[in-house]
Amino acid sequence: MNRPPLTDIARALLTTGKGLLAIDESDSTCDKRFALLGIPQTLAARREYRELLITTAGLGASVSGVILYDETIRQHAADGRTFLEVLDRAGIIAGIKVDAGAKPLAACPGEKVTEGLDGLRERLRAYLQMGARFAKWRAVFAVGEGIPSRGCIEANAHALARYAALCQEVGLVPIVEPEVLMAGAHTLQRCREVTEACLHSVFHQLRSQRVLLEGMILKPNMVLPGQNCPQQESVEEVAAATVKCLLECVPAAVPGIAFLSGGQTGELASARLNAMHMGSGSVPARLPWALTFSFGRAIQEPALGVWGGEKTHRGASQQALLHRARCSAAASQGEYRIAMEGI
Ligand code: 13P
Repeated sequence: MNRPPLTDIARALLTTGKGLLAIDESDSTCDKRFALLGIPQTLAARREYRELLITTAGLGASVSGVILYDETIRQHAADGRTFLEVLDRAGIIAGIKVDAGAKPLAACPGEKVTEGLDGLRERLRAYLQMGARFAKWRAVFAVGEGIPSRGCIEANAHALARYAALCQEVGLVPIVEPEVLMAGAHTLQRCREVTEACLHSVFHQLRSQRVLLEGMILKPNMVLPGQNCPQQESVEEVAAATVKCLLECVPAAVPGIAFLSGGQTGELASARLNAMHMGSGSVPARLPWALTFSFGRAIQEPALGVWGGEKTHRGASQQALLHRARCSAAASQGEYRIAMEGI
């Protein structure tokens, strides 16, 4: 099979004015979100919802890639096409979440390590054969008294690098996702310190596992104050802290950075990404890497609420999805304006 090089796939995912849409929630996470809205927690409902998302007309104008999950990559639309065919027809590259989830880290209360390396080479090969062109692995770091510990940072960074090297061996672009969580009352400064420590460790491990930086995409958190921190910095302050942190830690050989949303509202995630492109205050006007989005909740949440499991709400839900995808895409070029929200 003749496949494009990793660097070409990464560049296509980072096409100017586009970003990624994450719809790779595990069954249990998806079910939890359905339960909050009274939607049946069934395989059929999950399939119907994911079909609604990927068949949204015009999505490909704002979204370069969609991250699927083991359940969804095997599913079909009602018209008989596979989800992969639907995405291909829309000009959207298919990716797949391949980690097996974050599990409690032994001897480190409150901390987690992401599992899934055993048998990963074979699973990656199978996903490539199905049609996936990139993969995702997420590590999570909780912030608290004395955490994250050095052991937690190193264990997760090592696993991310082992995963990334395997992806590249097989021919998939790895999305490397170290997520410093928003939960807690920590300050923005503390988030920045923790994010820097995690990113330094991740890039150290990526080098030692011989990962080609030009053939990967980094998916980090923005540098934010904890959800319960009394001091919530402005959009511009968050943008400046995030860009400065990334300039300290991310080599210019990395072609792009695509942020997770992590529980921010769609509006805030768009506004903050947008401000990173405005070159105002202490944010440099030119950055060494593409800076875009790989949002899950910040794009999906309104669409899920509007759908609510009702067939008749399908069209309105797709409009809500398209709106957030367009706002995110505008933000990735510094063209997002609050007036786009129509409020
Ligand atoms: P959120 O944008 O909802 O954080 O999801 C992104 C993601 O891929 C989490 O792994």
